[in-house]
Amino acid sequence: MAVYRPPHIPSSEITPKKHWLNRRQIIASAGLAGAGLLAPGVFAETLNTVETDYTVKDDLTPKSDVTSYNNFYEFGLQKSDPKSKSGDFNPRPWTVEIDGLVSKPTTVSIEDLLASQTIEERIYRMRCVEAWSMVIPWNGFPLSALLKMAEPLGSAKYVAFETVVRPDEMPGQRGFFQSLDWPYVEGLRLDEAMHPLTLMAVGLYGETLPNQNGAPLRLVVPWKYGFKGIKSIVKITLTETQPKNTWNLQAPNEYGFYANVNPNVDHPRWSQKSERIIGASTGGFFGGSGRKDTLMFNGYADEVAGLYAGMDLKRNF
Ligand code: MTE
Repeated sequence: MAVYRPPHIPSSEITPKKHWLNRRQIIASAGLAGAGLLAPGVFAETLNTVETDYTVKDDLTPKSDVTSYNNFYEFGLQKSDPKSKSGDFNPRPWTVEIDGLVSKPTTVSIEDLLASQTIEERIYRMRCVEAWSMVIPWNGFPLSALLKMAEPLGSAKYVAFETVVRPDEMPGQRGFFQSLDWPYVEGLRLDEAMHPLTLMAVGLYGETLPNQNGAPLRLVVPWKYGFKGIKSIVKITLTETQPKNTWNLQAPNEYGFYANVNPNVDHPRWSQKSERIIGASTGGFFGGSGRKDTLMFNGYADEVAGLYAGMDLKRNF
């Protein structure tokens, strides 16, 4: 398998200093939260992570952008809403239930997962269907490790995922205007779910996930558009038939089930040939354009193209 092997630099050494200042403040506030002095939303734990081959050498998106420019409609429609409106969300305690076509239906807590899994650092490209992109140092473990705990049956062909529903803590889930039907749901084919690149993320930049990024655990599938990366997962069901996914239910002609990043298949309302790099500098002497060409399967074609051999990717978009 062709993977990049840059010299391993822990993200702590790449993080600009101002983010380290933030980080110290966060650790300090975590102490206060432990003492019950702060809202549960302001909480971050440092993770012990190991290096991994699954890493790209692109420039990292600053942590301040990764954690403030978000899509998480449960907290609102604006990119700034997930950060500013998720302070009441409490991701602990938390359990994930795995059921459906498995021989051992399992419910596991985030604490048990953090204690039992080797947490890897993986620097992945992330391409949103809205034609912007980031490069994020995730911390997590392969989804396959979680699914194996429940022992999928031979009849299982797909995996369905569900986000938590908590109108009391998620302002986008209450009130007169509801942007989407809740819970947010997503799905993968079983072979996609078992692929070694498919990650259950529990952190980013070496710390537990902020609420706005999908605390305490979310899916990351780097060769697919970002909407497949369902956040704050409470339920995983192995199925025989293709699961529903929220954006396909919302606008079936615009968002498919597969959602593989593909510069040759445009969105009906915009081109997918290039992407805006979030956090990229566009000024100064070297003044970049802040854009780059979008790569087939987001640059992961060597690893994943084989999953779709013989498939019409225009029809199965
Ligand atoms: N998961 C839930 N539950 N709700 C959402 O609105 N938005 C999706 C995805 N996961 C979303 C979600 C979209 S459109 C994107 S691009 C990514 O989350 C954004 O992840 P990020 O905010 O961590 O960059």
